[in-house]
Amino acid sequence: MKSMMKGFASAMALTVGLTAHAQAADVEVLHWWTSGGEAAALNVLKEDLATKSIGWVDMPVAGGGGEAAMTALRARVTAGDPPTAVQMLGFDIQDWAAEGALGNLDDVAAAEGWDAVIPEALQRFSKYDGHWIAAPVNVHSTNWVWINKAALDAAGGKAPETWEELVAVLDAMKANGITPLGHGGQPWQDATVFDGIVLGMGTDFYKAAFIDLDPAALGGEQMAEAFNRLMKLRTYVDDNFSGRDWNLASAMVINGEAGMQMMGDWAKGEFLKAGKVPGADFVCIRFPGSQGAVTFNSDQFAMFNVTGDDKIAAQKAMASAIESPTFQSAFNVVKGSVPARTDVSNEAFDDCGKKGMADLAEAAGSGKLMGSMAHGHAAPAAVKNATYDVITAAFNGEYADGAAAAAALAEAVAAAQ
Ligand code: BGC
Repeated sequence: MKSMMKGFASAMALTVGLTAHAQAADVEVLHWWTSGGEAAALNVLKEDLATKSIGWVDMPVAGGGGEAAMTALRARVTAGDPPTAVQMLGFDIQDWAAEGALGNLDDVAAAEGWDAVIPEALQRFSKYDGHWIAAPVNVHSTNWVWINKAALDAAGGKAPETWEELVAVLDAMKANGITPLGHGGQPWQDATVFDGIVLGMGTDFYKAAFIDLDPAALGGEQMAEAFNRLMKLRTYVDDNFSGRDWNLASAMVINGEAGMQMMGDWAKGEFLKAGKVPGADFVCIRFPGSQGAVTFNSDQFAMFNVTGDDKIAAQKAMASAIESPTFQSAFNVVKGSVPARTDVSNEAFDDCGKKGMADLAEAAGSGKLMGSMAHGHAAPAAVKNATYDVITAAFNGEYADGAAAAAALAEAVAAAQ
């Protein structure tokens, strides 16, 4: 209680200090939240900031996974005009910090006790050299499968728990005349599916390959099998998959044209936006074989070095608003993700959200919480991009078999380091 009061008192002092010294300016926010579900969640943030008199200048750069946004960011920083706050993932935050481009949120973090409530796995990316440089807004995870409930019922009704059961359900959906797998052929989406495949073959294997970048794991027999599975999944997509945006693939599952999508829990935001209810209209499961483990990614707002006390005050006010427990619940309920703090109640979350929170806690406790390769939390961008290239080539049938793809992956990752 005493420490809570202390935290409250210093938070008040901080707010008062900010108001006394500098009126907060607008924040200019670069992000890639442009789908229906994402925009709904973004609105929760905009409206929350508006209640605190922080104005919003929008800089959306469409493109799931954020690659296009990162290109736009580089151009802005090179021109000497960085945005105030930037949605960013994992190793990209660390890379920008290493360039000395980011500001410092230590005083807000200390006043609000972030160290005690933001999980270590996120702090590893929110801090650089011991200093807070970014404010985590959520925790997403990528090893999910979103299944149309009616299509699952027509395919036997049992959610698959193993790779073999997954293939059986996909075959049944195909026999029922729908596209079994709703997918968009973009490298980051292919890689998101691959996160699930590899994690489904074991956390030790996932860690050895994507986090430790062990050449034996990257180029070995298990990786050959992972690529064979990816190539098998290719046989369940429709003819028009190439280049399709992820939210359009979600829409195919929502309207029953496709049976399932293998995608991070931002897909749930699309289902909710369409008025669909977990359990009744759709089913959320972990990628078969990966139960108990989680590949996570956390959207964080990295604060760039800006000049002007009013702009710095706005960054701090935005960071403080993002970490408020009430906001964490309201935002993540809509976004499909789970809170970036460990002390937020799961009460407002639907069944998939509750499962997401429980899975995250379980995986963190058992050493099975892994950074997502596909979403920049396993290795820096150069390695990630090299990995994407091989995965997409494999998905599109450019290797004779899984073993050839695995050999190419080991080589590509070695060259990228
Ligand atoms: C981000 C999500 C976003 C998704 C699709 C991921 O990298 O973490 O917030 O919804 O990309 O755009």
